Amino acid sequence: NKGAYPYYMLKEIDEQPAVIHRIQSAYLNKNEVQLNSNLMDKLTNASRIYIVGAGTSYHAGLVGKHLFEKIAQIPTEVVVSSEFAYDDPLIEQDAFFIFLSQSGETADSRQVLVRVNDEWKKPSLTITNVANSTLAREAEFSVTLEAGPEIAVASTKAYTAQIALEAIIATAIGRTKNFEMAQNLDIDLELSKVANAMQAVVDEKGRIEQVAVDNLSDTRNAFYIGRGLDYFVALEASLKLKEISYIQAEGFASGELKHGTIALIEKGTPVLGIITQPQTADNTRSNLQETKARGANVITIVSESLAQTEDTLIIPDVNPDFAPLVSVVVGQLMAYYATLQRGYNVDQPRNLAKSVTVE
Ligand code: M6R
Repeated sequence: NKGAYPYYMLKEIDEQPAVIHRIQSAYLNKNEVQLNSNLMDKLTNASRIYIVGAGTSYHAGLVGKHLFEKIAQIPTEVVVSSEFAYDDPLIEQDAFFIFLSQSGETADSRQVLVRVNDEWKKPSLTITNVANSTLAREAEFSVTLEAGPEIAVASTKAYTAQIALEAIIATAIGRTKNFEMAQNLDIDLELSKVANAMQAVVDEKGRIEQVAVDNLSDTRNAFYIGRGLDYFVALEASLKLKEISYIQAEGFASGELKHGTIALIEKGTPVLGIITQPQTADNTRSNLQETKARGANVITIVSESLAQTEDTLIIPDVNPDFAPLVSVVVGQLMAYYATLQRGYNVDQPRNLAKSVTVE
């Protein structure tokens, strides 16, 4: 039931701070992580983690790679399930597979799980929003996202829930291995800060709507750019935009622009820059400047401590490792309002189904 909301997507965007709190209650006891001990043993012994997903779940996996490598210090590979299913990868002896799937029914991902079970015989965990789904049943372990039903075709709260759970699992592994960073990380506090920051963004939706109306109402294309985690959010924010508003949107690693893509910039092309990572903020700013010099209409989404007077949208600071959870909400709202303005059905975009059960 969408209540007073015009579309499920807006309701689901608004629910995200509450979803983070539900995940905290389900998997944390104050700062202690509560997860199945067999699962923790197998994860801790893994020499490599493979994260498997499609679409938005793949994008959540990219952020997960950063978290598993930094907090748990386990080399992690993220794979697009439809590409991996028929590939001939060299699987390490102590590999562990994590499947990310909101629905738990994505056929491309299931095809990989079949190989994990039958051919490679490796341990697996499905992180899903549907407890009794196919992927949850067929993996060795499963945990649920606690996000509540996601009805809109465009995935929003499942993405942020997946990242929050990846952060919790990475922290648990890192602590078991006595890594200082994980020991010192107050994951409960960090997630509370994230939930507050998300709330601040959804409370600012009027401003985001204005930016969407001013810049995305009748453009044919748009680019999101960023570096590192900001690049991963650029991929997700641009998928949201193309999926529901039909704007030809792409996410690019900002440093890659000058290696070809900048040729596409024309007078008035919207270029949305995401800047939340201190170590690359200046680089992304100079890349934005390069697009501006070629006529781009630059829009910036920037963490407060990195903000400058000319920035378009300022978002609250959180630990930069968790910034995707906050910056993506701007991207979700931007897509929502651009779509409303262009007069399309937000929840039921053309040519798409909520879960993709054919390969
Ligand atoms: O249910 P899943 O998470 O496995 O679905 C994967 C993709 O089909 C899904 O994330 C899709 O990309 C979304 N519609 C994007 O908003």
